[in-house]
Amino acid sequence: MERARINVFDTTLRDGEQSPGCSMNVQEKLRLAHQLDRLGVDVIEAGFPIASDGDFQAVQAVSAAIRRPVIAALARACKADIERAAQALQGAARPRIHVFLATSDIHLQYKLKISRQQALEQAGDAVRRAKSFCDDVEFSPEDATRTDPELLFQILEAVIEAGATTVNIPDTVGYTVPSEFGELIHNIGQRVRGAKQVVISAHCHDDLGLAVANSLAAIAGGARQVECTINGIGERAGNASLEEIVMAMRVRPDRYVHETGIVSEQLYPTSQMLSEITGVSVQPNKAIIGRNAFAHEAGIHQDGMLKNPLTYEIMTPRSVGVPDSRLVLGKHSGRHALGLRCEQLGYRFDRRELDEIYRLFVVLADEIKHVQDHHLLELIRQTQPNPGRIPPAHAEPRPIHPPASAAVGQSGYFERPFPVALGADLSAATLPLNPMSEHSAEQEDYLWGV
Ligand code: KIV
Ligand code: ZN
Repeated sequence: MERARINVFDTTLRDGEQSPGCSMNVQEKLRLAHQLDRLGVDVIEAGFPIASDGDFQAVQAVSAAIRRPVIAALARACKADIERAAQALQGAARPRIHVFLATSDIHLQYKLKISRQQALEQAGDAVRRAKSFCDDVEFSPEDATRTDPELLFQILEAVIEAGATTVNIPDTVGYTVPSEFGELIHNIGQRVRGAKQVVISAHCHDDLGLAVANSLAAIAGGARQVECTINGIGERAGNASLEEIVMAMRVRPDRYVHETGIVSEQLYPTSQMLSEITGVSVQPNKAIIGRNAFAHEAGIHQDGMLKNPLTYEIMTPRSVGVPDSRLVLGKHSGRHALGLRCEQLGYRFDRRELDEIYRLFVVLADEIKHVQDHHLLELIRQTQPNPGRIPPAHAEPRPIHPPASAAVGQSGYFERPFPVALGADLSAATLPLNPMSEHSAEQEDYLWGV
């Protein structure tokens, strides 16, 4: 089956940077831009050149250094902004000017203080001006989801006629819901003159926690570009998270008959690099790249994971660049995980011995939440005066998941049918050194790599 290609437009360096605490200097932006290139994004929005000299220089630097993806620069719908964006993009191999103008009555009346007719004319004029510098022009009607659809359609027709090649529909304030947004995108595709000749794009914010769901609904409605950020950073509650959109499509190809150019094994390294640069870490339970996304504490889950990871994981950690799943030893853990950890520490016990350790372990776990290696060794010392050590050759930690080089079905590992596009050699992925993920006592169990 032919799978439609969805272009991934990354705006981490522009909208993402507008997130409190996430601003980046030129060198930092350049470093992240190289990583976004490795990740395989189609478009990098490198900044808003009129906003500051730093932003201008960042767009210039990214344009000069990164040649495969399109490099976009943001501009309001006015001469000075468009000229500044064009200037910053001069060295780009594939430049795009991204022009925006608010179109909702709330913004027209209170912010811009212009009429609908003026907005219509200004949008067309701005796109014509941008087009005089650059073939690739994107137009965004800011606050599109609170704009009267009839006006929205008229403005989109005007900008397409003026030469826009992408029309991006921003849910600027994160107000829409999936069914409504999918329908809006579908109607744009059907009713706006010229829409079939351009790319329809979705740009969703997360104020109601719906940015990813809305982006996926837009794809179902006919959008062929999604705008998103690494770790979902962005204004207020953030933008749609790139890693979540991409993995939803990859894990559910039965529902999303689309593909992206994203190298999913680079998702975690990219997320880590962003956290390292900004100093803003992601919440532990964040989907795909959070510290707990592949962690299992409950005994029933750990037991299932050790029998076959398919029981509790819908994608392999390696498919998103996470080194391996981890089993956290806490009060919900069972004997299976405890026994495995003892083996990894070099001790093998029979059932009766393990029961003895387990009884003390549960009492301790109740008190201290996470039982770490040194606690476990102390429990072993207390209960087993002369524990037999496993010969070192047999004490090697066994990962839950096969190494990338392991043959499918190799003894002790399980064949993983999804996601569909697995198999890259993770040993090639360079994980950036992130001071926040260094080996702290708190995270000790994370590094077990069981
Ligand atoms: O959220 C928004 O409306 C934007 C536009 C500039 C595309 O970021
Ligand atoms: Zn935005």
